[in-house]
Amino acid sequence: MTIRGRIAGCGAYLPARVVTNQELAQMVDTSDEWIVERSGIRCRHIAAENETTADLASAAVKDALRRAEIDASAIDLLILATTTPDQTFPATATKVQAMIGMTGGAAFDLQAVCSGFVFALATANNFIRCGQARNAVVVGAETFSRLIDWNDRSTCVLFGDGAGAVVLTAEDGTGTIADRGILSTHLHSDGRYRELLQTDGGPSTTQTVGKARMSGREVFRHAVTNLADVAEEALATFGLTGGDLDWVVPHQANRRILDGTARKLGISPERMVITVDRHANTSAASVPLALAEAVNDGRIKAGDLVLLEAMGGGFTWGSALVRM
Ligand code: ACO
Repeated sequence: MTIRGRIAGCGAYLPARVVTNQELAQMVDTSDEWIVERSGIRCRHIAAENETTADLASAAVKDALRRAEIDASAIDLLILATTTPDQTFPATATKVQAMIGMTGGAAFDLQAVCSGFVFALATANNFIRCGQARNAVVVGAETFSRLIDWNDRSTCVLFGDGAGAVVLTAEDGTGTIADRGILSTHLHSDGRYRELLQTDGGPSTTQTVGKARMSGREVFRHAVTNLADVAEEALATFGLTGGDLDWVVPHQANRRILDGTARKLGISPERMVITVDRHANTSAASVPLALAEAVNDGRIKAGDLVLLEAMGGGFTWGSALVRM
């Protein structure tokens, strides 16, 4: 008998305000054509002034709990992947815990930037596998707009705000890939590249939050290679090929990165869930937002084999192979 975390429900929340490329072109020297051609992004959601990461996260978690038909009182683990916590401490996860009415178990934040959701999903699944949790909530939530230098055209056009969440529930199985649940996870980081994508501040250095700084071209190069490698690693674990996957839910950073990854894996573009055109890069929220969209509109069905993958600052990158 093997215990795995099965995804029992997916939820999402996007702030109401939508900012188009045309609006950004009035703020910095850019154009809709440049942004669409280089990134595939057409618009992004931006949190209202009084909306925080905890607000976005708790809305997504409530949506996921409702769809999973599980009460907050049954949740014994909540992991929030975020780069934009409400405060330096306590963990924003504890605020979300209180907001959703979860009073038992443990809640903590996890920081792996754009890979945060995949890292958090792997962590929660391991808690379930070793019997330390039965029902876990994993949420990726970001108000990344707060880390943006709105005068820097090379970064301000690329990011957005949002939150996505899943409920993971312990499921007994036979230990084969026919079982529903998280079949494998692979996580990596390489701190030698941390300066290619970072903030220029932090509590222990400048005592400020800092703004996001990125060497876009180098990040792009590493992203295509690392994402294809970690996907191959997941497939090789079970002797699969790209053709065996029903869906790929990738981190949504840039349409060209997604197309490059699909080509390398031999996956048709129709099997990739794409939200980057409407959400831009929402960092840790991007994978669960895309997953929630495709599950809740009926594209991804129970029993489908789905590969989640992400890459972010650190560098960090990882994958999760899931039988829905
Ligand atoms: N509008 C108009 N021109 C711009 C803009 C803009 N918004 N931003 C940069 N440019 C200019 C540059 O100044 C440069 O001009 P120059 O040649 O006169 O110096 C020119 O456009 C080309 O710049 P590049 O950086 O070479 O453009 P590139 O084709 O690489 O596209 C981009 C830039 C979109 C940032 C791309 O490199 C990219 O997507 N990189 C990956 C970034 C990423 O995914 N980051 C997310 C975090 S990590 C992750 O999530 C995987």
